[in-house]
Amino acid sequence: MNASPALEVDRLTVDFKRRGTTPLRAVDEVTFALHPGHTLALVGESGSGKSTVVRALSRLVAPSGGRVRLGGAERTRDAAYRRTVQMVFQDPFASLNPAHTVGHHLRRPLLVSGRATRADVDARTEALLDSVNLAPAADIARRRPHELSGGQRQRVAIARALAPGPAVLLADEPVSMLDVSIRLEILGLLDRLKEERRLALLYVTHDLATARHFAADVMVMYRGQIVERGPSDEVILRPRHPYTRLLASAAPGAAGSRERAREARAARLAVRGTRTAELREAARDGGGCRFRARCPFATDRCGQAPPVVAVGGAGHEARCWLHTDDAAPAGL
Ligand SMILES: Nc1ncnc2c1ncn2[C@@H]1O[C@H](COP(=O)(O)OP(=O)(O)O)[C@@H](O)[C@H]1O
Ligand SMILES: [Mg+2]
Repeated sequence: MNASPALEVDRLTVDFKRRGTTPLRAVDEVTFALHPGHTLALVGESGSGKSTVVRALSRLVAPSGGRVRLGGAERTRDAAYRRTVQMVFQDPFASLNPAHTVGHHLRRPLLVSGRATRADVDARTEALLDSVNLAPAADIARRRPHELSGGQRQRVAIARALAPGPAVLLADEPVSMLDVSIRLEILGLLDRLKEERRLALLYVTHDLATARHFAADVMVMYRGQIVERGPSDEVILRPRHPYTRLLASAAPGAAGSRERAREARAARLAVRGTRTAELREAARDGGGCRFRARCPFATDRCGQAPPVVAVGGAGHEARCWLHTDDAAPAGL
């Protein structure tokens, strides 16, 4: 990657206070960079802390530690940051005000950011609607959110995020509430906008297939930590961390044989069944690997904090003791 990063996140940590017990560390020293014109996927099961990363970068929750740099400068509290780092959320209905027209939702950020004047705001609003393939733009601008389909609403939410001319777009499960039939269209739209506008895009999802298709690189999050990262094909086709392997085998379409199907079913049950208990146990973890209770390969040293280890070329890394020497068990 030649261009310097648009956003650098260095050891971001978020603790949630809990009554009568130690805080929940929802995000634990997460480090990554977003580059112009590139998509980075953040994948992990529900509750792993993905949305908390997005919320911390959107200043919706206060980080407990770490640093965030935008265009090389630490200035996360100013208006420029809020303009430059925009979000698209899972539920387009909840993120739009039912009392306001589509045009209203777009005119405000255009005017506030100085990207339009009173004289040209209507033309700019229509241009934005065109850019997200909403037509006829003048007609759409007059409608209210309930007069649109789910996919159209998400296009409006995307247009609103683009209105202030962001450099960084954080998309938190942007299609998981939409009909399956239109998910790829919306992801294709985000992909095109990323190219055209050189956006640095963070694509948060629990879907490995779309992560692989739309993101150059992927990070796998497990209980607040990044456990594996690297080029998408590397991580998703050749996962090394036992948790990524579990996710990959549980993904729809991964089951190629009866045995794989059985493995996938067992993995899905494991994912579902242990989550609550594990979150409760999170506070008692100490510094050890957070996956060790579920890991078929766990040994005594997994009670110590696992190292980040290079497991392949091109920045493929896993946070796992299994890869610290050549004696890793076969099949990993
Ligand atoms: N506002 C909050 N207060 C307390 N706990 C929270 C809050 N938001 C999220 N959490 C907890 O933080 C963890 C990570 O949640 P979240 O970031 O929403 O995960 P994901 O987006 O990966 O599903 C979960 O255990 C969740 O219950
Ligand atoms: Mg979430």
